Amino acid sequence: MQRAAITVFPGDGIGPEVTREGRATLALCAERFGLQIDFIEGVIGGGAIDRHGTALPAESLRAAQASDAVLLGAVGGPKWDDPRSAVRPEQALLGLRRNLELFANLRPIVAHPTLIAAAPLKRELLEGVDILFVRELTGGVYFGQPSERRVGPAGREAVDTIPYAEAEVARVTRLAFQLAQRRRKRVTQVDKANILATSRLWREVTHEIAAEFPDVTCEDVLVDAMAMHLLRRPRDFDVVVTENMFGDILTDEASVLTGSLGMLPSASLGDAVNAHGGRVGLYEPIHGSAPDIAGRDLANPLGTILSTAMLLEFSLGQPGPARAIETAVTRVLDAGLRTADVRQDGCTVVGCAAMGEAVRRELARIAA
Ligand code: IPM
Ligand code: MG
Repeated sequence: MQRAAITVFPGDGIGPEVTREGRATLALCAERFGLQIDFIEGVIGGGAIDRHGTALPAESLRAAQASDAVLLGAVGGPKWDDPRSAVRPEQALLGLRRNLELFANLRPIVAHPTLIAAAPLKRELLEGVDILFVRELTGGVYFGQPSERRVGPAGREAVDTIPYAEAEVARVTRLAFQLAQRRRKRVTQVDKANILATSRLWREVTHEIAAEFPDVTCEDVLVDAMAMHLLRRPRDFDVVVTENMFGDILTDEASVLTGSLGMLPSASLGDAVNAHGGRVGLYEPIHGSAPDIAGRDLANPLGTILSTAMLLEFSLGQPGPARAIETAVTRVLDAGLRTADVRQDGCTVVGCAAMGEAVRRELARIAA
């Protein structure tokens, strides 16, 4: 494999702590499997606002655009939370998604058997849960215009807009069907077609795409019902595809099924192909910047470490090394190591750095 270029954006809060462990794990994996990876670090989010007055400095965006993949920690914190402020840390995420055209956000929801006890739902509902959410990421209400505040005859008004074009729906649903072909061959398309015109377009286009995949079954579920089914019968779902805002909300809900928000990785992918024949992608844990525990070695680095496995698979075409990282994580959990967020009776609680080191010790054994 030729050299791969990875841009790392540690970001704010616990971002630097978790990306340190993710990067070190990826570096060890590369060394053990004979892959050459060059890392560069960039500044985004609140830290970038403080230093450069913008959440996504041009230099950081250029670095991301020149890379084969991006590894990101988290952005945001109370310091930059003023709702009236024109610059906000989250603009870095939206800017990266939009500029790199990362239209598909993959969020796997897998309940690790040893962590099920930490989830607030009954064990028998959760055993065997294995859902892959595919959330549309560059369209809909997040980017629709007009989106503004104004003053009308009756006082303050605000408007947001949900636009979707057929091609935007087709590319993300097609990817969802392709991913389902490699899994249990079921796609659930979530919408609000009884109310929204955009949802009726999603339904129509999804059915056209479904015809290209006769081996995959496709069902439509209304988003309010889906919020309920996710808690009542989560095992029934394989690949779930939905628009940006519904996906944002449902994936937070689904994360509860695993008992461990800190464990969950994500990949944001576009159609652009990099020099390794993989997709250009951005990889990040789904947890946020957790400013309350930042800098105290309390964060769970496993969401970021598992995100590097997705990076190896989707951007570098290296499923073997990806599985090695996942296996190392499983073994560390099976051995009873836990960060404080998933603390359980009888387990050994360790900090962020020690958890990363434990994963790398296992990885070194697996790839000896
Ligand atoms: C997510 C987050 C972001 C989103 C925020 C931080 C802008 O909630 O990645 O799910 O809404 O997309
Ligand atoms: Mg969210």
